[in-house]
Amino acid sequence: MGSSEQGEHAIHTMFLEERRYPPSPEFAAQANVKADVYERDFEEFWETEGRERISWFQPFDKLYEWELPYAKWYLNGKLNVCYNCVDRHVESGAGDKVAFYWEGELADTRRTITYSDLQSDVVRFANVLKSIGVKKGTHVAIYLGMIPELPVAMLACARLGAPHCVIFGGFSAESLADRANDFEAEIMITQDEGYRRGKPLGLKKIADEAVLNTPSVKKMLVVAHSGGDVAWTEGRDIRYDDLGKDASSDPADCPCEPMDSEDLLFLMYTSGTTAKPKGIIHTTAGYLTGVATTHNYIFDLKPETDVYFCTADIGWITGHSYIVYGPLANQATSVIFEGTPDFPDKDRWWDICERYGVTILYTAPTAIRSHMKWGPEYAQKHDLSKIRLLGTVGEPINPEAWIWYREHIGGDKAPVVDTWWQTETGMILITPLPGITTLKPGSASRPFPGVDAAVYDESSNEIGPGGGGYLVLRKPWPAMLRGIYNDPDRFLSNYWSLFPGNYAAGDGARIDEDGDFWLMGRVDDVMNVSGHRLSTIEIESALVAHPLVAEAAVCGRADPVTGQAIVAFVTLKGGKEGSDEIVKELRMHVGKKIGPIARPSSVVITAELPKTRSGKIMRRLLRDVAENRELGDTTTLADPSVLAKIQQQAQAKP
Ligand code: WT7
Repeated sequence: MGSSEQGEHAIHTMFLEERRYPPSPEFAAQANVKADVYERDFEEFWETEGRERISWFQPFDKLYEWELPYAKWYLNGKLNVCYNCVDRHVESGAGDKVAFYWEGELADTRRTITYSDLQSDVVRFANVLKSIGVKKGTHVAIYLGMIPELPVAMLACARLGAPHCVIFGGFSAESLADRANDFEAEIMITQDEGYRRGKPLGLKKIADEAVLNTPSVKKMLVVAHSGGDVAWTEGRDIRYDDLGKDASSDPADCPCEPMDSEDLLFLMYTSGTTAKPKGIIHTTAGYLTGVATTHNYIFDLKPETDVYFCTADIGWITGHSYIVYGPLANQATSVIFEGTPDFPDKDRWWDICERYGVTILYTAPTAIRSHMKWGPEYAQKHDLSKIRLLGTVGEPINPEAWIWYREHIGGDKAPVVDTWWQTETGMILITPLPGITTLKPGSASRPFPGVDAAVYDESSNEIGPGGGGYLVLRKPWPAMLRGIYNDPDRFLSNYWSLFPGNYAAGDGARIDEDGDFWLMGRVDDVMNVSGHRLSTIEIESALVAHPLVAEAAVCGRADPVTGQAIVAFVTLKGGKEGSDEIVKELRMHVGKKIGPIARPSSVVITAELPKTRSGKIMRRLLRDVAENRELGDTTTLADPSVLAKIQQQAQAKP
């Protein structure tokens, strides 16, 4: 019961939040959905969306099948995701419409990519993949930054029916190798270098290190981005440009492979409560229908006039569902930004919004809180008057950040949609609908039409208005995970055993008198740092892999900007005492093992960890120490004096 205790504090103040923002009549009049959407029958709703929103090579003959916990959707349909995202738009005459405005990290590096350009790029890429042996069913790992070739590579895989697995460019060689091995990747796509604050970042170098330990990877396809020099392994490495320059970009030379509705589209790895990340399985038709439908309704997308900007990285599920697949299926015009919000200055996003006339912005609460800290003057330097809708995702949003976002970015009028979902859910499940919902800062409002969410207590009793408990989903939804790759037991125990017959999300939630949901954060050993999902156990394992470390316990501490910050309590071998050098070394070590996002913000070196008489580390008490709170019940501790020492140790640290 990890962060639920922390959640209690935050949620209490949220529940006192009484500000209400009803939809404006102007917004409501033009909204894509009308209030009666909530009255629609679950089956009729998804049946209609599937038939009308998606182009099928062969229509499905059954809406869904649920052999608990495994669901199948749109059974016996044949379709291709790339066809739906690219080709059909060109065929219907929208080839000149912009699909992506790509904005590079370096000054004045930009590209405008129309749907026709995208089609040519994807076909060429797919032909290159084919020429190095990729066919239907080949597993392709993708380790790329936010460059145009990233969505192109994903779509090229989808075109050929080759499942992809994108691994976030911020992961270390070891994390990349773990994922590529579990996925049994045969091909790895990477780039020479990316950029981080204007400085080159060697992605190929990390990929080289990773593939030393991934025997299944036979070829490495390298996209040139920085043009910098990189090490080369003859016979294994292939320059994309060498093959791409002669490859055909004519779609007739590379037709879209007809795929079954339930064929694997991609895996996305996410952290769970053990050291090993989970390969979340997403398939073809349900996923595509789910992300396209939610993207259209929740962002009120008008493909003709909107310019949509989602600031997530495509290496996470948000980018897959709401930069690549959902928006493209809906023929949206989107912005892809390679860089960070404060480089070269803190107005970078606002400069982008003004330049491209962004109308819809989707970002994370942690980013909003950073901008709040920097001050509204950066946004005020730019014309943001086209923005008409704002979205957030990744963690609970505190009402102050919500209101700041609406006022300073949304011109005091744009609705804010606080969208709850997960890597596993594939699509947004709890959210306001703009034009319908009366918004409450801090509440994700209601389950999306056709979604059956509830709050349960530990014995699976439904909690009514005013109460709190565990968030569960009681019916399947089209984009839901189809399992954990190579680990069916974990799928059952992780999601389906707590509340038999229901999907346990791992989040705490409350329901208010109006039936609106208030999410309270994770109830397991998972942390949320700047919207990144991290496992306490994974970081503990990384720490104990260091030769000096005897034991480690990791927990999250509330942080005003990042949501949670990582605190590690460590004992050293031989009772060795800590020093600033060792602390620094351990932080670097975790960064090297997992990736910079997992680096603890503080490391407390202590002689002992608080344990029960049976030897279990009492993380609950460590969280109290980390948050400077009065200690909870210590009676089960084997040696209560240990805590006083740790407290002293912790207070000596910043
Ligand atoms: C966890 C999922 C899929 C979005 C990106 C993160 C937390 C996500 C919200 C929200 C409160 C949220 C939950 C969830 N979360 N959105 N609007 N309000 N909490 O995906 O890495 O799979 O993490 O993020 O705790 O379980 P993820």
